[in-house]
Amino acid sequence: MRAVAVHRLRRLALDQLEMRLLDRIRLIGHEVGFGRGWRERAVRQRFCGALLRGLRTWRLVLLRLLTLRLFCRGGIDCGWALRVGPVHTLLASPRCCIRSLVAPSPEVRQGTPSAVLGNPRMTFVQRLGAAARLIDQRLSELLAECGPEKGERLAAAMHHAVLGGGKRFRPFLVVESAALFGMAPEAALDAAAAFECVHCYSLAHDDLPAMDDDDMRRGRPTVHKAFDEWTAILAGDALLTLAFEIVARPATHPAPATRAEIALVLAHSAGGRGMVLGQMLDLAAEKRGEPAVPSAEHIRRLQALKTGALLAASCEAGAVLAGAKSDERAILRRYGEWLGLAFQIADDLLDAEGDAAVVGKATGKDSTAGKATLVSLIGIAAARDELAKAVREAERILAPFGDQAATLVEAARFTASRGN
Ligand code: IPE
Ligand code: IPE
Ligand code: MG
Ligand code: MG
Ligand code: MG
Repeated sequence: MRAVAVHRLRRLALDQLEMRLLDRIRLIGHEVGFGRGWRERAVRQRFCGALLRGLRTWRLVLLRLLTLRLFCRGGIDCGWALRVGPVHTLLASPRCCIRSLVAPSPEVRQGTPSAVLGNPRMTFVQRLGAAARLIDQRLSELLAECGPEKGERLAAAMHHAVLGGGKRFRPFLVVESAALFGMAPEAALDAAAAFECVHCYSLAHDDLPAMDDDDMRRGRPTVHKAFDEWTAILAGDALLTLAFEIVARPATHPAPATRAEIALVLAHSAGGRGMVLGQMLDLAAEKRGEPAVPSAEHIRRLQALKTGALLAASCEAGAVLAGAKSDERAILRRYGEWLGLAFQIADDLLDAEGDAAVVGKATGKDSTAGKATLVSLIGIAAARDELAKAVREAERILAPFGDQAATLVEAARFTASRGN
């Protein structure tokens, strides 16, 4: 009995130490800007130096026990650590380890999100597609881990709402905004997935007969068409809740304060001062004729809330996740706001001019329904000008980051050129 108790206590203590050490390694990674900058020799050397200094305080015997397993579970893009070997090797021969870190083998990194998105030859669209596949994979895992049991009707409806289409633009923005501040894509994937869950819930509800009454979404039947209305409502509810469960999980970020901050950013953008209020204004204009003649200002506000809020929050969340400074965070937010405006004008233009087969949802509905859009107020040509202006503003705001922000600049341009 006593031996079992002692063994359990020892295991518990080890688990605790392991978790603390893991957190420490992750934080060191964040502090030295580990992630996007990992290819730079100086970043890796800084990481190693900080790691070695941090580890010196730990007992060697424990470090031996933690070994490679710890590195591999770290989730900090340490595929290259596989070549380093056990932690005690790192301690015993730091120089040799640093040398091996400086030249990570491609085969070790192959298949990791960093490797997939680290290919400099990819075009923007290829990059967005590659990120979408990574997000799909993570969403599917998270649904299996945290969603209802497989076989439940609710699980199938959530699956339908989330998987099988979608550009994954919001999670892409989370990942790319985090990358701007040196975070590896794998470290941003969970938070990114949470933003997509909120987006997918909003689409399932937006398509309901009581709202936009749509039958097609992403080239497939909408959730209430594939299932029924009450299932679509409940699947949406569960997705919204799941988003916050994902954000709260330690796997999303090692620092509880950062997770709380992400939850705050997400909640604020999705709720009654954000997307839901925007949807209220959108439907009040359409169904109640309020206001009787919506002004351009009213429409911009409505669109900033219903669409811009979550997009801006995705950019801001990436910055928060990667530990950006408050002024950098504010830049990302402003960029996301212009991007959001552009995104909804483009959506309205696609509704007015797009081909339903390409867009993946019914088109030509906004004017019939009497939606308050800039297209209906100022016409297609002027709306195009507004769209171009919003894209230019988004680009201009990123100027302080220079070439580092090239992908986000392209993301802004993409909002205007997209075909769905
Ligand atoms: C559609 O969003 C709804 C809007 C907010 C305009 P997306 O165009 O991002 O839709 P998916 O996720 O790619 O299907
Ligand atoms: C949807 O706007 C905004 C949200 C889902 C919050 P729309 O109603 O214009 O989007 P689509 O055209 O149905 O995708
Ligand atoms: Mg709508
Ligand atoms: Mg709609
Ligand atoms: Mg629309």
